[in-house]
Amino acid sequence: MLSLASAAWAQAPANGSKAELPAVQRAVHVCASCHGDFGRSTHKAYPALAGQTRDYMIRQMKDFRDQARAETDIQAYMWGISALLTDEQIEGLADYYAAQTPLPGKSRNAKLEAEGKLIFEQGIGDHTVRACTSCHGGNAQGEGAAPRLAGLHADYVFRQLQAFKTPLRRHGNVMKSEALALSDAQMKALAAYVMSK
Ligand code: HEC
Ligand code: HEC
Repeated sequence: MLSLASAAWAQAPANGSKAELPAVQRAVHVCASCHGDFGRSTHKAYPALAGQTRDYMIRQMKDFRDQARAETDIQAYMWGISALLTDEQIEGLADYYAAQTPLPGKSRNAKLEAEGKLIFEQGIGDHTVRACTSCHGGNAQGEGAAPRLAGLHADYVFRQLQAFKTPLRRHGNVMKSEALALSDAQMKALAAYVMSK
């Protein structure tokens, strides 16, 4: 699957990005069939990758390859393809997607989004749930290991918050106390809010 027609670029550019390595560009064509051109998916099953943080992307791709992130859909869709990727390709894919401009968020339910915004910015109670902004940034834009959430489909975000309550996302440790303390209704509000950003 990854040996599709070669792209034109032969070498990584001077800024150190590996995004244009031919093996990375070939892989990007395959990723695009589900995650959309430039990673700008709006489909609830396929998370957008455009603008995702580099460190987070690398962690996830390695977790797929090591079978350490193990939700059913990840097993079905991402284990096979990631098994074929080298560290260099993974870094190149992360460079590529981090450099893509994401689509603007989609607002669907202003009331629900306002509820989500409150939790996102202030957390709940006496640090039972920490403010999401403290790691994911004031606009849910992500930073380093904490992913960009802005514009991700609400159904996908809700599924991940549920997954953190299980052992299936092992590197989601930092999210586990949050996920356990949130009700489904609060998760839906948070998911609606980040999708609108
Ligand atoms: C056949 C469809 C398909 C292809 C091809 C595919 N993916 Fe995925 N990918 C998925 C699905 C489905 C999910 C989310 C599953 C879920 O809901 O948990 C996913 C999840 C991901 C995630 C997790 C996103 C996040 O926010 O945590 C990353 C990163 C990812 N894919 C990268 C890639 C890359 C890079 C490629 C190309 C090398 C690729 N995918 C190819 C279907 C695909
Ligand atoms: C202490 C830092 C921290 C706080 C606070 C935090 N997060 Fe996270 N979050 C992370 C990290 C780190 C990850 C990546 C985990 C991994 O590698 O699997 C993550 C992952 C996620 C994901 C998965 C995204 C994806 O693309 O799959 C969602 C959704 C999320 N956080 C939502 C939230 C929400 C909502 C809050 C507030 C209630 C919150 N987080 C608070 C650090 C944090």
